[in-house]
Amino acid sequence: MSEWVDAVQEKRLKDGARQVVATAIGPVALFNVAGELLAIEDRCSHDGGELACGELDGDEIICPRHGARFSLHSGMALTPPAYEGIDTFPVRVVDGMIQLDIGDD
Ligand code: FES
Repeated sequence: MSEWVDAVQEKRLKDGARQVVATAIGPVALFNVAGELLAIEDRCSHDGGELACGELDGDEIICPRHGARFSLHSGMALTPPAYEGIDTFPVRVVDGMIQLDIGDD
């Protein structure tokens, strides 16, 4: 079931910016990648590292702890040492506010 929550004003997340949003299900990392808004859980599936501060390579994030790559679109783990994916979240903009769907469907 969908559960949309406010994240950040759209004007505050410029192209190339990122923001960690505290939610009821834990921290979510929100990215503006060339105008596209993408959201992932801010926790690496390898050993729990925070992903939001990792290096971006296109739509891939590189975990700053041991270098695993994840797709910001699918959450899929692309390189070892991570083998499990991470959660991604639908994003929308309503009246200038970026919202995340943290529901469980
Ligand atoms: S915690 Fe992310 S690769 Fe190890």
